[in-house]
Amino acid sequence: MPSRPSSLGAEFEPTVDAYDIDFVVPLTHRLRFTRDCFGDDFGVLRDLFEPSAGRPARVQVWLDQGLIEWDATLLARIDERFKLAGELELTSAIKPLPGGEALKNAANQIDHMLAAFDEDQLDRRSYVVAIGGGAFLDAVGYAAAIAHRGLRLVRLPTTTLAQADSGVGVKNAVNWFGKKNWKGTFATPWAVVNDLGLLDGLSNRDFRCGFSEAVKVALLKSPPLFEFMVEHSRSIARRDMQRAEQALRQSVLLHLQHITRGGDPFELMQARPLDFGHWSAHKLEALTNYELRHGEAVSIGVALDTAYSYLTQGLPLKLAEQTFATLQDLKLPIWDARLVDGDVGKPVVLQGLEEFRQHLGGELTITLIRGVGQPINVHEIKSDLMCEAMRMLQHYSSSDVSRQTA
Ligand SMILES: NC(=O)c1ccc[n+]([C@@H]2O[C@H](COP(=O)([O-])OP(=O)(O)OC[C@H]3O[C@@H](n4cnc5c(N)ncnc54)[C@H](O)[C@@H]3O)[C@@H](O)[C@H]2O)c1
Ligand SMILES: [Zn+2]
Repeated sequence: MPSRPSSLGAEFEPTVDAYDIDFVVPLTHRLRFTRDCFGDDFGVLRDLFEPSAGRPARVQVWLDQGLIEWDATLLARIDERFKLAGELELTSAIKPLPGGEALKNAANQIDHMLAAFDEDQLDRRSYVVAIGGGAFLDAVGYAAAIAHRGLRLVRLPTTTLAQADSGVGVKNAVNWFGKKNWKGTFATPWAVVNDLGLLDGLSNRDFRCGFSEAVKVALLKSPPLFEFMVEHSRSIARRDMQRAEQALRQSVLLHLQHITRGGDPFELMQARPLDFGHWSAHKLEALTNYELRHGEAVSIGVALDTAYSYLTQGLPLKLAEQTFATLQDLKLPIWDARLVDGDVGKPVVLQGLEEFRQHLGGELTITLIRGVGQPINVHEIKSDLMCEAMRMLQHYSSSDVSRQTA
């Protein structure tokens, strides 16, 4: 029988055959807020890069082309900033790529990124800077996470959705087998910089999208943010940047708090509370061939699970109606006819429940709400009542026309 060398602790007693050792990995989540990160605030970004073994930090930068279409001078400005920074080595020219969901559907682009990492000999202490929308960050983040089992990823989210939610997420993914986020990893970014100025180039449609995640997280966790959204959604839709910034900051901090203090950053347990409204949203995105933006699909999904919460969990009707009106004031949809495609009584979107369950494994667990800040997990969704929730949304979405034109 082996005896225990003196350097082994008691829990590593060599005479047993089964070991269950809990361990904790220390991680730091860095989030910064700036207004002009390639201008006056560049120092905030630069300070995130640590020299390695006496050599300047090595940095490769990827840029969502959506931003170049908005500002043709941006690429040259970023390039100059990095080159003049000192203490930094830009390993090659800044790499533009078309962003949006198409990037997550394009398998060859991941290989393209990996080849570029290899060509510049990036290692685990090198930095990949991804500047772009949520889809861009997901795809570049996925490539960075699998290269050498993880390069340091600095995310600069450039959509409201990514600044409100996905930028601080500890996940990345691309779509595979025609399924959303099938391929991906959990990986904590080295840092996230939310720069308000980068949002200027967004279309009104994309600008409004992110606030569905703010409404989502408010319903789950924050009565004050919910009240704020009810009150200010119209001015946010008109791009009142002061109100928009307040909503984005509250939203991202609630997400950050959940990830760092919620006890389950890598979603090992069954519930995915931040995914309120997402089982149908993900299905709708695929059903519409990604014609609906994630934020629009989330708006519909949040409205749907809010209606279902009213029908099954005693959520007060007034709160459900306030939620629908707030989303509509943000000029976001709460209804799409494609929700009810398929058999009467069993719309195709309900397949999203099984896909959601399969993604996580185990028992179906859907988060609903009993009130604002009062989430509850359920393990069964009743098709007939979900269909009734859909009819409710159809009704409220058409009544919005009369409210807006009244
Ligand atoms: N990893 C996570 O935790 C997580 C969480 C939520 C959402 N997501 C993912 O995020 C994606 C949605 O991201 P999104 O809503 O940010 O949209 P998006 O990334 O699809 O971008 C939408 C469009 O805006 C363009 N664009 C981006 N920034 C711009 C700017 N500042 N100016 C002009 N154009 C700009 C893009 O090129 C694209 O065409 C989905 O794939 C979703 O699954 C991931
Ligand atoms: Zn989302």
